[in-house]
Parts: sequence; C-alpha cells; structure tokens
Amino acid sequence: MTYNDEFLKELIAKVTNDVRTHFENDTSGHDFEHLQRVVNNAKFICEKENVSVRDTDFIVLCAWLHDLGDYKLNKEGIDKSKGMITNLLQTYNTNIELINKVIEVVSEVSFSKGRAATSILSKIVQDADRLDAIGAIGIARCFAYGGSKNRPLYSDFPSKRAESSYQHFFDKLLLLKDRMNTQAAIEMAAERHAFMLDFMKRFETEMNPT
Ligand code: NI
Repeated sequence: MTYNDEFLKELIAKVTNDVRTHFENDTSGHDFEHLQRVVNNAKFICEKENVSVRDTDFIVLCAWLHDLGDYKLNKEGIDKSKGMITNLLQTYNTNIELINKVIEVVSEVSFSKGRAATSILSKIVQDADRLDAIGAIGIARCFAYGGSKNRPLYSDFPSKRAESSYQHFFDKLLLLKDRMNTQAAIEMAAERHAFMLDFMKRFETEMNPT
C-alpha cells in the first residue's frame, strides 16, 4: 500500500476526533464508546494474533470508521458508508488505494449484510465489533438499540414478539460465538456467551414468576 506509517498514525488521530463528534450523541448503542471498545478489542486481538504494527494501525483505522454511514444509523435506512468514508478520508488527502482498502474491510464487517470476511484485516475488525454485541455490554446495547427503534423489551403477544429486543438474542446475539474468526475472539466470546445465557435464564424467571 502506498502510504507511510507516519501518515497512517496522523490519519488515525484526526479520524478519532471526527468520529467522536459524529457519534457522541448517539443513544442507540452505536456511540463513541462503542467505537472505543471495538478499537480496544481489535488491538487486543492483533496482539494475540501477532499482527504487524502496520496492519494493526490499518485495522484500528477501520475500527474507528466501521459504523460511519451504516444503514441502521440514518433516518433513510440506507448504506452511506462508502460515500461518507471516502469524503472524510479525502479531506486528509488520503490516496484512493488506501480509501478503497478501508471501504473493502468495512463492507465485510456487518452481520446483517451477511458478507464473509475475506482477509485477516476484516476478520479482526469483524470479531472486535461482534464481541461488543455480546456479554454485559452486548445486552445493554441490545435493549438500547431496541428502545431507539421503539421496540418492546419482550412481548407476550406473538405479533410483537418477533420485533422485540429479547428476540434479538435468538436472531443474532446467541449465534455470534460460533461466527468468530480468530482464536483470541473465540475465547473471549465463550465467556461473554456464558454470561448471556445466565442473564437469559434470570430474565425468563422474572418474566414468568411462579
Ligand atoms: Ni459497530
């Protein structure tokens, strides 16, 4: 890739500031703190998987940008990530090769788009994002997201059940531990998955007290 390491480090600092401004008022579980945790997860996985410093920096850049323009987060519900990432990175004179590489990785991260991660770069960003969807934080984010979409916590009415936050555990959260790519993420996911099962057991007990 035709960019130097110094350029990449400076770009990460600028992009971090931009996404802080962009996401700081989010209340759907896709706030700046989510990005921060995904970056931290990604760095942890990179270290465990012996990823080079250069690739780690690239992965960190993609982690900061992975939710920018996501269809879930705009009123129209359409994917704007390609355009928004391009515009932002062009502001800092990023060459097109690097921009396209970021877009390629980010496009492979989303669970709902159903695309397979084809490189170790996208595999790690995907794992880092998925880890934040499970465990205690994942539970909190699931209900926050449901609230932002006016969904019930759970429902006794079959017609409403399908769109409830609790149904999301079955549709997505419980599936994630078997969809991790790296060994480091597989281990972290197992622990978080076990915690979710405990939570669900308790949740169902309190839902239907006998
Ligand atoms: Ni995300």
